[in-house]
Amino acid sequence: MDKLQAKERIAALSDEIRKHNHNYYVLSRPTISDYEFDMLLAELIRLENEFPELIEPDSPTGHVGGGVTKEFMQVQHKYPMLSLGNTYSEEEIRDFEERIHKTIGDEVEYVCELKFDGVAIGLTYQNGRLVQAVTRGDGVRGDDVTTNIKTIRSIPLKLHGTGFPEEFEIRGEIILPHASFEKMNEQRLEDGEEPFANPRNAASGSLKMLDSAEVAKRSLDGFFYYLPGNDLPFKTHYECLLAAKSWGFKISEFAVRCKTIEEIFDYLNTWDKARHELPFDIDGIVMKVNDLKQQEILGYTAKSPRWAMSYKFKAEQVTTQLLSVAYQVGRTGAVTPVANLQPVQLAGTVVKRASLHNADIINNLDVRIGDMVFVEKGGEIIPKIIGVDLGQRVAGSTPIAFIGTCPECGTALKRTEGESAWYCPNETGCPPQIKGKLEHFISRKAMNIDSLGEGKVEILFDNGLVRNCADLYDLTFDRLIGLEKTYQSTEDKKEKKISFREKSVANILNGIESSKNVSFDRVLYALGIRFVGETVARKLVAHFISLDKLMNAEFNDLIEVEEIGEKIAQSILSWFSEQKNTELIDRLRMAGIHFKMDESLITRISDKLSGLTFVVSGVFENFSRDDLKKTIELHGGKNIGSISAKTSYLLAGENMGPEKRKKAEKLGVAIVSEDDFIGMIQ
Ligand code: IVH
Repeated sequence: MDKLQAKERIAALSDEIRKHNHNYYVLSRPTISDYEFDMLLAELIRLENEFPELIEPDSPTGHVGGGVTKEFMQVQHKYPMLSLGNTYSEEEIRDFEERIHKTIGDEVEYVCELKFDGVAIGLTYQNGRLVQAVTRGDGVRGDDVTTNIKTIRSIPLKLHGTGFPEEFEIRGEIILPHASFEKMNEQRLEDGEEPFANPRNAASGSLKMLDSAEVAKRSLDGFFYYLPGNDLPFKTHYECLLAAKSWGFKISEFAVRCKTIEEIFDYLNTWDKARHELPFDIDGIVMKVNDLKQQEILGYTAKSPRWAMSYKFKAEQVTTQLLSVAYQVGRTGAVTPVANLQPVQLAGTVVKRASLHNADIINNLDVRIGDMVFVEKGGEIIPKIIGVDLGQRVAGSTPIAFIGTCPECGTALKRTEGESAWYCPNETGCPPQIKGKLEHFISRKAMNIDSLGEGKVEILFDNGLVRNCADLYDLTFDRLIGLEKTYQSTEDKKEKKISFREKSVANILNGIESSKNVSFDRVLYALGIRFVGETVARKLVAHFISLDKLMNAEFNDLIEVEEIGEKIAQSILSWFSEQKNTELIDRLRMAGIHFKMDESLITRISDKLSGLTFVVSGVFENFSRDDLKKTIELHGGKNIGSISAKTSYLLAGENMGPEKRKKAEKLGVAIVSEDDFIGMIQ
């Protein structure tokens, strides 16, 4: 294909992919299969790789992410990001309406909308292209999170239709739907990380991530509800919403126009009940005066518009009795107290259990067995105990004493200073820890031994055949054949029987054998080192290449790696300092597991930068920051996160922070420009 043909094909593919993105993510009405969509996207990526000079700045491949940000730039909002006056009382809504009528007269129409519980964002478009996305920050200045926002597939990078101003801003809320939130927390627990408390925190945490390819995996979404500025070609707010919809933005289908206060109350009461049926969180409703001229007359206070107001729902709460506290031991040995409650209806589901999180929470609540407790749904999903009805406490109750020994193996529990969780330290002898670690080792994203799925690890454990992951590689046909167990399925709770016959034994052994081909980053993740999730494992492997280098790394070498902080570094050092772990590694090595990155995957253009480390900062003329980093690696150099005395060069672009320059000068690190750099690789 020549360049001209490629240009045409890229334009046609981009248009088509944009249309399908909109159908799928905005309208929820896909017209082609996921497979067909992936094929189109793959073709576009291929063409863009072949003809990088033809990549459009608003190409739909931008949704895939890949840009890594060092730190978010602070940007001043063109229109300050105000908040809304809010209330929990219907009385104050009446006052709000009366005030408006006093100023405007009786001819007022309102638009009622859902109040999305997420992270506020302002998007700027120039000539129909998304150029900047800024968070609220302090209302005057926010963080430029454009690279991350671009990964959200429902957000148009290039607008549809016509009639949009040459430059304008649109405001909305970035949210994380319930399903994605739950999936994400499961993964975090599996990786030994703290789960997010609610979808809003998760959305906010995701937007702050530095690696946009990670953000792309989070399934964030966004609803848009406001066009600031007073030179818009529209008469009403509702018209603005319809126009924004026609340009491709996701606008809630539940925005309605109301004439009377009764209609407003109807809307409010309907959503107070129906909100639990939505696939995302809302925390109230918003009322806005529809006419833009009337809005202008009403104006603003220092903090919020006088033409809008929000009504916040009271969190749904019930009272029920605490029957007992159970303790669960996870893969990492962390002991989580769980409250068993008298079953009670709450926000559409029957609640029987609530997390008590840790010993501190139990103490702070001073909750006791038999107490009547207030239960609320945090983030509207996970029930939690938020207080005790002391008036109903029966005489003679005593504070709950957190268990001192592991409920599974009897070992005395330990607590690290500064951490709230108690741990069972018996990593190699405590059944749920051993089984949990094995389950993690064989899981899909780790060694992917799916022939050892539900219940099978349990059989191996119960028969004393495996105590750690290296034992898997000693299994033989003779040891496995004929083993049996009945167990309760987690899916349908029915009793099931597994017996290892010839075929399943062969499958298991094949699965174990093929796990020897799994790449080193997944092996590292499979080891289950605390805080070393998939991404961290990948970053470590890309930096150190082999396990031997990683094992020899000192604290300072570790924190030089992008996204590796002190907590992760400490955890890695402590894991490798234990003899039982190094013995495990030796056995896995003997079994033939990969402990080195496949060098053929590292494509090199030259070795000109071999042994050199770079910190890239600022904005560049010929390269995006990502491309620069890639180029450094292609020439054998390494990118690191922050400047230290060992850094070879600070590669400085425009607008680099003065702190960086100062630090480099102080440590004697050479500062080079983009041109110097081009000279180095030519
Ligand atoms: S309008 C100048 N509409 O709630 C007023 N805000 O508590 C612009 N929010 O700052 C805001 N849903 O982050 C508006 N349908 C909606 C909203 C909404 C959620 C957020 C927004 C706002 C905050 C105020």
